[in-house]
Amino acid sequence: MASLFDKRLIVVTGKGGAGKTTVAAALGLAAARRGKRVVLCEVAEQGRLAALFGASATHAETELAPSLFTVSVDPEQAKQEWLRYQLKSRTLAGVLGGSRLFQYLTAAAPGLSELVTIGKVWDLAQLERRTGGSVFDLAIVDAPATGHGLAMLRAPSTFAAVARVGPIGRQAEEIDRFLRDAKHTGVIAAALPEEMPVNETVEFERALRRELNISVDAIVVNAVHPARFGPDDIQRLRNVSSANPVTQAALSAALSEDTRARAERAQVRRLRRAAKAPVATLPRIFEPELGRDELERLSAELERRL
Ligand SMILES: Nc1ncnc2c1ncn2[C@@H]1O[C@H](COP(=O)(O)OP(=O)(O)OP(=O)(O)O)[C@@H](O)[C@H]1O
Ligand SMILES: [Mg+2]
Repeated sequence: MASLFDKRLIVVTGKGGAGKTTVAAALGLAAARRGKRVVLCEVAEQGRLAALFGASATHAETELAPSLFTVSVDPEQAKQEWLRYQLKSRTLAGVLGGSRLFQYLTAAAPGLSELVTIGKVWDLAQLERRTGGSVFDLAIVDAPATGHGLAMLRAPSTFAAVARVGPIGRQAEEIDRFLRDAKHTGVIAAALPEEMPVNETVEFERALRRELNISVDAIVVNAVHPARFGPDDIQRLRNVSSANPVTQAALSAALSEDTRARAERAQVRRLRRAAKAPVATLPRIFEPELGRDELERLSAELERRL
């Protein structure tokens, strides 16, 4: 964890609904507790991170807790900002940004949207901000789901290869170098303890290594059901026979929950065998909605397990 928090950027990705936002927020709280000035950055979402802290997010930096900030990156706005930086002229960027020519160019350059988005994230992680914002010790990005997350990480290298000369190529190269440098950038994959998410996580880890030579720092298996019963308890539960329907229902609920908890543990073991990265688990929390208290709890668990 110490070395994870010594990086400048942590990218949290994973299958849709696996807990990327939750894990990113929990990591952010843990890093802030350690005295880091942290920015949690979400991409193309409407303030989900901020909502977890009972705040509302804007494109500007919003404080969520002491030393913990959030920024919501809107790819469209990031594009404008990037253009402004490239062209050094607000007016020209505005004209070009809105124009059909620009729309055409963006469409013709696949990945530009991902490039400017990761560019904005990269900027948040710099000691000298291009866009003149405040400086953070650590940026944590709640990245898009695996496939898009990979596309976002890949965009700078694709651009650097295409636009080999000129400022765009140079900047793409700089971002690419930063992302591939394990000293600066870490990747956390959020997964669920189920067959398909486990397969996808292993596949993501391989693809990231194969395509970009980036390794996953840790896999967080989220929302794991607790094993409430030992083998003896289960044997005893199986032996109970009751004519009372309520007791029967409770017994079969207990047994099926146990079956589920076991199946989840088997998936976690399978993931541990197949993945190169260390695997940490987070418990399922039985609350209708996760808020600040639950996040604090998950963040303490993460700190212990990573
Ligand atoms: N450990 C947990 N225990 C209980 N509920 C959880 C846990 N982690 C996440 N959740 C809930 O599961 C849902 C999905 O979590 P989250 O939003 O973090 O996933 P995500 O990967 O960011 O999803 P998306 O792909 O939609 O962005 C949310 O409603 C969240 O509150
Ligand atoms: Mg999310």
